[in-house]
Order: sequence, then C-alpha cells, then structure tokens
Amino acid sequence: MLSLIAAMVGLLQNIRDFLHRHLAGSLSGRLLLLTTVFVLLSEVLIYFPSAARYYHDLLAGRLASAQIAVLALDEVRDTELSPRLRGELLANAEVRLVALKRNNTRRLYLAESAPPEVNGEIDLRKALWPELIWASLDCMWAGEGRVLRVQGTPRLGGGDFIEALIDETPIREDLLSYSARILVLSILIAIVTSLLVFAALFFLFVRPMQRVTRSMVRFQERPDDAQRIIVPSLRADEIGQAESVLAAMQTELRQALQQREHLAALGTAVAKIQHDLRNILASAQLASDRLSSSNDPTVKTLAPRLVQSIDRAIALTTNTLKYGRAQEPPPRRRRQTLLPIADEAMHAALAAGDGTVGWNNAFDPALEVDGDGEQLLRILLNIGRNAVQALEGRAGGAVTISAERRDGSVVIDLSDNGEGIPAEALKHLFEPFARQGRAGGTGLGLAIARELARGHGGDVVLLRSGPDGTAFRITIPDTVTDTDGAK
Ligand SMILES: Nc1ncnc2c1ncn2[C@@H]1O[C@H](COP(=O)(O)OP(=O)(O)OP(=O)(O)O)[C@@H](O)[C@H]1O
Ligand SMILES: [Mg+2]
Repeated sequence: MLSLIAAMVGLLQNIRDFLHRHLAGSLSGRLLLLTTVFVLLSEVLIYFPSAARYYHDLLAGRLASAQIAVLALDEVRDTELSPRLRGELLANAEVRLVALKRNNTRRLYLAESAPPEVNGEIDLRKALWPELIWASLDCMWAGEGRVLRVQGTPRLGGGDFIEALIDETPIREDLLSYSARILVLSILIAIVTSLLVFAALFFLFVRPMQRVTRSMVRFQERPDDAQRIIVPSLRADEIGQAESVLAAMQTELRQALQQREHLAALGTAVAKIQHDLRNILASAQLASDRLSSSNDPTVKTLAPRLVQSIDRAIALTTNTLKYGRAQEPPPRRRRQTLLPIADEAMHAALAAGDGTVGWNNAFDPALEVDGDGEQLLRILLNIGRNAVQALEGRAGGAVTISAERRDGSVVIDLSDNGEGIPAEALKHLFEPFARQGRAGGTGLGLAIARELARGHGGDVVLLRSGPDGTAFRITIPDTVTDTDGAK
C-alpha cells in the first residue's frame, strides 16, 4: 500500500515537472493556454444567440400546441366543455390559457377557471434578438414560478394572432439543461481544438525554434567545436532563414575565435621576443657607447645615429611590454618641426636599401606638427620603407615627401614613382597580417602606421596607386584644447 502511494506521488511529481517544463513560461505552454481561452471566448459569444433561439423555439412550440388544442373548439363554446377535458387540453399543451384573434375579434378559447397572475409578456412577432437574448437570460435567472403572456402568429392562417399564458418553470429547466449541454460541449471543443492547434504549432514552429535555441546554447558552451554549428534544414520559411543565418554566424564566430587565439599566441611570442631583445639591445648599447669615443671620422659621424637608434629600439620594446597589449600607447604630443623626423625616417629607410633610391623632403623646413615624435617617425618609416622596397633596382626611383598645414591639420603626402601596389595587396591594404603583400613582409607596416595616425585623431589613406607610382596621405590634426573637450 505504502509503495503504491509512493508510486502515485512519484507519478504526480513527474506530471508536475513535465507541465512545469513544457507549459509554465514556455512558448508552447502559453500557446496552449491562449488557444483554450480564445476558443472558449468565441463559444461564449456563440452561446447567447443560440440560447435565445432555443428559448424562442420553446415558446413558439408551446403556442403551436396551444393552437392544436383549441382547433376543435371553434364549433363549441369553452363553457360547454367539462372542467376535466378543459384541464387535460391545457395540461397537454402545457399552457394555462389560450386566446385567438380572428376576423378582428379576440376570443378566449380555453382557460383555467381562475386565470393566474401574469408576471411578464413577450410578443414573438415583434421581438428582436437583443430582447430575446435578454428574455432568455432573465428566464434562466428568475423564471422559477413565473407566468408569461406570449403572443405569436398562428399557423396555417389560423387567425391574426394567438396568445397563451405559459408557466416559465419548465421552460427555465429546459433552458438550463440546454446550457449545461452547451457548456460540456464547449469545453470538449475547446480542449480538442486547443490540442490540435497546439500540436500543429508545436511541430511546425515551437520544435524547430527549440532546435535553434538548443544549438545556440550548445554552441555558447563550446564555440570552438565545429560539431555544434547548426545544420540548416531545407525549410524555405523564416525559421529556415534563421537557421541559415545562425549557421553562418556560428561559422564566422568560430573562425574569429580561432584567429583571436592565433593572435593571442602570436602576442605572447612577441612579448617574449621583446623581453629578451631588450637585454640584447642593452649590450649593443654598451658597445655603441664605446664606439662613439673612437677617433675614426666615419665611426664618429655614424656612431650617434647608432646610439640613437638603439635607444629608440629599447624605448619601443619597453613601452610595448609596459602596456602589455597589442594597442599602441597614447601619443605624447608636442609641437615640433617635421623636418628632423622626416630626415631620420629617410636615413633609416634608405639604410636598409641598396643605395639606388633617392629621397626628397620637399616642404617648408619650418613646418611644425603637433604629435608624438617617436610615433610620427614610425609612421613615416613604415610607409617610406614600403616605397623604398618598391623602388629598389629601378633606375631613377625616388621618394618625395610634401607637407603643409591645412585647416588645423598637417597633411603629409609620401609618394614614389614605382610600379604601384599589386592588385592582390590592394584588397587588404591596411589589414594586419594580410598575406597578399610582398614576399618576406609581415603585413603589419601600414596597419601600424594607420593605427598610430588614428591615435592622433588623424588617418593614413592611399591617395593613388598605378603604373606612375603610389602616394599615401597622412593627416595629423593639431590638439584642440577648447572647453567642450572635442579633440
Ligand atoms: N609604395 C608602395 N609601392 C608598391 N607596393 C606597396 C607600397 N606600399 C605598400 N605596398 C604593398 O602593400 C603591402 C603591404 O604593406 P605593409 O607595409 O602593410 O606590409 P609589408 O611591407 O608586406 O610587411 P611589413 O611592413 O610588416 O614588413 C606590401 O607588401 C606591398 O606589396
Ligand atoms: Mg611594409
């Protein structure tokens, strides 16, 4: 017995869990509830007119039986009937009094010896729907023990009108049992319809949506697992579209994550290299310091540049390590002349070349730029080195820098007369690690230059590129120090 009770309790808990999981709060549960409510609502709306119709038919039926009961009485007078026969006729027709109007004379055909008190009236010839609905509700509510005077049209031209006094109690009982039947039927229809609608929606809509949601959740748990990317079904509707879009998004996201991992690994490697490079550079710095005290004239002119370059390299590695991330530190801006920076870039860029390339810094030597000197040098060097690399081995190859101040910005154009940027490299020009560039290049130079310029609120753009050469434009706006904080 105890185990039976335990099994029952377990079963109830399972049912409760199932309902909780599938109905409460879920889309399917709400659908089921809404369908049931709407079906019941429409049935209530249908119920009132049909109850009124039923009420009308009951009253009309009574009038018809009353008319049959008095058919033969045209020949005899009411008073000539025995009270017993009169009572039987009235009881059979379920009325208390019958009168008929014919040829403009109303005649009382049949009545109880003491006619009852009348509590209400209804004329079936004139009653409209609202009145019938109201009368049927009133009858169900308060019809017990009342007597109603009902008028209607007699059948088969039997006169102008027929009138009867009818007990409402049996009419009311009939109406109530009719309503009970309708109620049971409504509930059954509501349940069946809801289940059908629910099943249809569940299979057409809810289940596929659950599949999409499940795939999202599973993918979120392990986005690197390609098995968890949704396989779109062949549906052509909105759910099919959602599946395809989700599959595309998941694939893209997975690739992006892979690339991010790749970049993170690269970042760690770079950090390690920088760390040890600093130590190596430190010993180079020591050696170069010693070199500067040499008496050899060539060494004497080259040594300061060597010292400066090594210092710069040390600063760069230290800064990057300090920030510990791939982003550049914010520029430390200062107003300074552009020419020394451009000269420095020229020496550095040409030093790596084969000595055949010319370089011309063609701008006003007094032109001032408001920026971080180190970062400006790196911008010019990265763009300038590309130009030198493109010109190597070409007779008459030259790089030209022109620059001027325009509307609060310094605009620097760096151009060369090489063959232009290859079409493949053009497609991903400023993207880091783009592989379509020069063999042996890492594809970082232009990305770094643009990032540094944008850090100044400016930009690097490709001005033109073709068989006549290539030109990049660097824009460095001045720092704006007005009160609204715009930069
Ligand atoms: N002035 C130019 N003339 C011709 N091609 C150019 C010029 N500037 C850039 N390019 C092309 O654009 C590509 C991308 O340049 P970017 O400086 O971003 O990378 P990279 O030079 O390949 O590598 P890195 O500079 O990191 O060593 C180059 O490989 C080259 O093919
Ligand atoms: Mg480069």
